[in-house]
Amino acid sequence: QGPKRIAIDGPAGSGKSTVGEQLARQLGYLYCDTGAMYRAVAWLALREGADLHDGPTLGRLAQQADIVISRPQVADGRQYTVTVRHRDITWDIRNVAVTRAVSIVSSHPEVRSVLIAQQRAMAQQISVVMVGRDIGAVVLPDAELKIYLTASLQERARRRYAEMKERMGEHNPALSTLTDVTSDIQRRDEIDRDNMRPARDAIVVETDNRSISQVLDIVCQYVEEKK
Ligand code: C5P
Repeated sequence: QGPKRIAIDGPAGSGKSTVGEQLARQLGYLYCDTGAMYRAVAWLALREGADLHDGPTLGRLAQQADIVISRPQVADGRQYTVTVRHRDITWDIRNVAVTRAVSIVSSHPEVRSVLIAQQRAMAQQISVVMVGRDIGAVVLPDAELKIYLTASLQERARRRYAEMKERMGEHNPALSTLTDVTSDIQRRDEIDRDNMRPARDAIVVETDNRSISQVLDIVCQYVEEKK
């Protein structure tokens, strides 16, 4: 028996990161947030002033980024640590500039093929809960369990906004408004649509009127059934 793989996909704000991280912790699996890898490439592209529409250049950048996702060693609320060329960019990749650039960067096949290969290699070495947009359909089509989380745009924006407020403080001038967060997510949904692929054999879990722990309970039941 090789490593076990659980794929959780869904749009921004569907709860996949929170649920994925808690599930991984319960199972003792590695938590791999593939969105963080796309964000790391976007961060590097912005830093190096690369053309966000130049697929081949961004693909090379992804290849040379040396992205590492590891268990957190710092207790500052992070779910994991992301480094690019040994530099810790865990919080930098959450900023508005990266969030606005990431969908364009991740739309290039040159970038996707590099990161998908790295994601598959990771899942070959160790049991993982891998979270993203295309994990069940493309990255790990043989995953033992595939979950697809959904929620309405309004609910997803509300969650993202609450998360940012919590992290940045309600009176932080850099805090976006709920309207801005909603349109950012909507814009991202549109660009991401092509790479947003629920696997045909994924279990769809609607999260609109459910708390994180309710969603986690549902997912855990499916994990139990697969044992
Ligand atoms: O999940 P998160 O919002 O951090 O993902 C950031 C972006 O990375 C998404 O909007 C999408 O463009 C891209 N992404 C992707 N494929 C994945 C994970 C993320 O294209 N598997």
